[in-house]
Amino acid sequence: AEANVGVVGLAAMGASLARNLARHGNRVAVYNRHYSRTEHLIDAYGDEGEFYPAKTVEEFVGLLEKPRTAIIMVKAGAATDAVIDELAEYMEPGDIIVDGGNSYFKDTIRREKELRAKGLHFVGMGVSGGEEGALLGPSMMPGGSDASWERLKPILESIAAKADDGEPCVMHVGENGAGHFVKMVHNGIEYADMQLIAESYDIMRRGLGMTPDEIGDVFERWNGTDLDSYLIEITAEVLHKKDPQTGKPLVDVILDHAGMKGTGTWTVQTALELGVPVTGIAEAVFARGLSDQTVLRDKAQADPFEGPDGHIELGAETREAFIERIRRALYASKIVAYAQGFNEISRAAETYGWDIDMAHLARIWRAGCIIRAKFLDRISEAFKDGAADVSLLFAPYFKQGIEASEPDWRHVVATAAEVGLPAPVFSSSLAYFDGLRAKRLPAALIQGQRDLFGAHTYRRVDQPGAWHILWAEPDQREVRMAD
Ligand code: 6PG
Repeated sequence: AEANVGVVGLAAMGASLARNLARHGNRVAVYNRHYSRTEHLIDAYGDEGEFYPAKTVEEFVGLLEKPRTAIIMVKAGAATDAVIDELAEYMEPGDIIVDGGNSYFKDTIRREKELRAKGLHFVGMGVSGGEEGALLGPSMMPGGSDASWERLKPILESIAAKADDGEPCVMHVGENGAGHFVKMVHNGIEYADMQLIAESYDIMRRGLGMTPDEIGDVFERWNGTDLDSYLIEITAEVLHKKDPQTGKPLVDVILDHAGMKGTGTWTVQTALELGVPVTGIAEAVFARGLSDQTVLRDKAQADPFEGPDGHIELGAETREAFIERIRRALYASKIVAYAQGFNEISRAAETYGWDIDMAHLARIWRAGCIIRAKFLDRISEAFKDGAADVSLLFAPYFKQGIEASEPDWRHVVATAAEVGLPAPVFSSSLAYFDGLRAKRLPAALIQGQRDLFGAHTYRRVDQPGAWHILWAEPDQREVRMAD
């Protein structure tokens, strides 16, 4: 046996990760279902380090030093199960199987349990940063046993992205599904962040009549503010890009139907199960969904509704001043999206028994991953000193940030609504914030309605117990029910 680590699945992510491992002095066994990909990797990049190609899974396992470490980089779902089964057939107790795909965390919990029964370590690892990240340094979120982490740590730290202070962007997130869970929420936050940027773009484009180039310049400027992040940076790049075929702005020739592969949907489904409102992420997922409703959208063009056309009349205000308002609305809504995502992680940690160091988690998202952003340093500090325990929104730095942005945030949401520009994440984040601030919510009325039609009972503000009005009785008496 020659290899200290192996990679199964040599599509874009797997091949990049294998090369990253080899470039960092690992001896890497590689296997792909179709050998042509393996051959291509060796032909094109074989001189980057030590690779050991295998034609069969059995040969692959045989190339690995014991106890073995194999990283799977295949499509989430059935393909992952198939590869795990094949590997498990040849592996022995003590060996580690790492799943680096975007797997559903409940699958990871199940697989870990099944493999543990066979004496194997199973690690579900979130890997973020796309193909480039995988090659040059991803952010990695492994979940599994302490023993497996001890062995994976040096390997993963060598290939991880490094934050500005040199800290590697990888940590042991927790047991079994914890790693894939936080990666799922990372993607949910990614969706919200992307949608917020898209809403900002739309308000500038249709509302203020700006060109993609002009808006690209705005995003470039914003990248020098609190919004400094990878997604803002690439947005500027996309907006400045010209279509190679027509010379028009690329964004104008791209079909406006957003795709998705499932992690955003899972984030929302899981939040519903856990009872955690993640309104920003949910609206971002639904916004992609609406963009893809071809029949509905075609009908709305063929049979249009009366209504404003999206144009914003600035009056005495300068365009620059309004753009600054959008920036602040984006910042405040973004804080809400992160706060909601972190709330979902804390609730899941309680439910699934994971001990997740939130301050550390924020630190490993500072580089390598798609949501990398300057303000993750601040998020990490907020969790470290306990200020974000209930919600990130209460940490002084973010509370002040929201308070400073609040009037502009309201103005942008109100204006967008008035002129007919959809801003679902801006507006739902503001509604969440206002719901949170309210001393009394209309939930009291809902309880009254529920009691009337279904005897669901209500609690009183002044006495303990569950109460019910005998709505159908002539005297409509109130009775105390068993709790
Ligand atoms: C990452 C990304 C990545 C994800 C893509 C596509 O962290 O590198 O989150 O894992 O698969 O962003 O996601 P959608 O196709 O659902 O947009």
